[in-house]
Amino acid sequence: MSILLTNVGELMTQDRERRVLRNAALVIEGERIAWLGAAAGAPAADASFDAGGRALLPGWVDSHTHLIFAGDRTAEFEARMAGEDYSAGGIAVTTEATRNTGDYDLTRLALGRVAEAVSEGTTYLETKTGYGLDVEQEARSARIASTVADEVTYLGAHLVPAGMDADDYTDLVCGPMLDAVRPYASWADVFCERGAFTEEQSRRVLQACRDAGLGLRVHGNQLGPGPGVRLAAEFGAASVDHVNYLSDEDVDSLASSWSGWDAAAGSGARGTVATCLPACDLSTRQPLAPARRLLDAGVPVALASNCNPGTSYTSSMAYCVTTAVLQMGLSVHEAVRAATFGGALALGRECGNDVDGERAVGSIAVGHRADLHLLNAPSATHLAYRPGMPLTHAVWRAGVRAR
Ligand code: NIG
Repeated sequence: MSILLTNVGELMTQDRERRVLRNAALVIEGERIAWLGAAAGAPAADASFDAGGRALLPGWVDSHTHLIFAGDRTAEFEARMAGEDYSAGGIAVTTEATRNTGDYDLTRLALGRVAEAVSEGTTYLETKTGYGLDVEQEARSARIASTVADEVTYLGAHLVPAGMDADDYTDLVCGPMLDAVRPYASWADVFCERGAFTEEQSRRVLQACRDAGLGLRVHGNQLGPGPGVRLAAEFGAASVDHVNYLSDEDVDSLASSWSGWDAAAGSGARGTVATCLPACDLSTRQPLAPARRLLDAGVPVALASNCNPGTSYTSSMAYCVTTAVLQMGLSVHEAVRAATFGGALALGRECGNDVDGERAVGSIAVGHRADLHLLNAPSATHLAYRPGMPLTHAVWRAGVRAR
């Protein structure tokens, strides 16, 4: 079955050449993109869909979420809006609620959150464990995550549970807990921050998880300056997320991690992506991550929602893109790129290197998975020009109409 999407006013490919086509068309065949180009030259297809002059983008790639949870932290949010600081300790509240929720309900809650994200244009999504914090519960979270998300990250090192010695808990994270989640996860993460895991403990977690064959990610420099970014670059992590408090050395370490990469060709040794989480920054009243400074230094940037009950209870990537344009100094094209291609880069799913079109997400090109987001607007600029408006008109996920 093939479908011709015709009369596309603006087609923002986010491919390697960063092409933006006008008066374009695209053919979906099965779950892949079979053709794209000028509408006037489009081939015939089994069915056609008139885009009505609207803008077509790659579906959002949300590379940082925490969707496997139960419970509510509204009171904590209200206290924060009244002037209290965010602290990692809130994670324990969600951990208790999550542990007390059965598999069926936990899966249903997570699926509901994925459905919300897809309805807003997200077509590829990572999620983490991290609200289980013992061997059995982390394995359960990873198992459920593997049934609802495209990529699963093991975040046993999210918080040291009350009453446990931090080093003993780190041993557990690096040993039996890692063994139990390993069948379900392809990534590991550590919350390297004051109140969570020290540099030494984070180093042990990263080493053990790398030895176990997991790709690495780090929560770093969220609440203050610290060693997270430096560690991420040293360990060759695919991404360091939050990055609110950066020294010049931190920015340099990220920029140098990409020195072997040919951005135009999309080949060479990859470095560490800086993943900015603007919805979280606003909800925790932290300074917005310096995305402009990072891009200017040559560091690839991703934007992600960080959907979680504590610091960012939204999966709206449009909100992140809008904020990146209005408040972080990115152009619309750069912000959309960070929320599509950037997320794919942070998940090792960008087109290039050994990632062929079949596995690539976050860009529109022939052979790629047909993950598409049609806006109810003539250009992507409307994402920033009309902030907060419901601009998702249609979504295709692997060629299937998802909204
Ligand atoms: O990415 N920073 C650590 N983890 C989450 C927040 C988790 C929570 O407070 O429940 C984050 O912001």
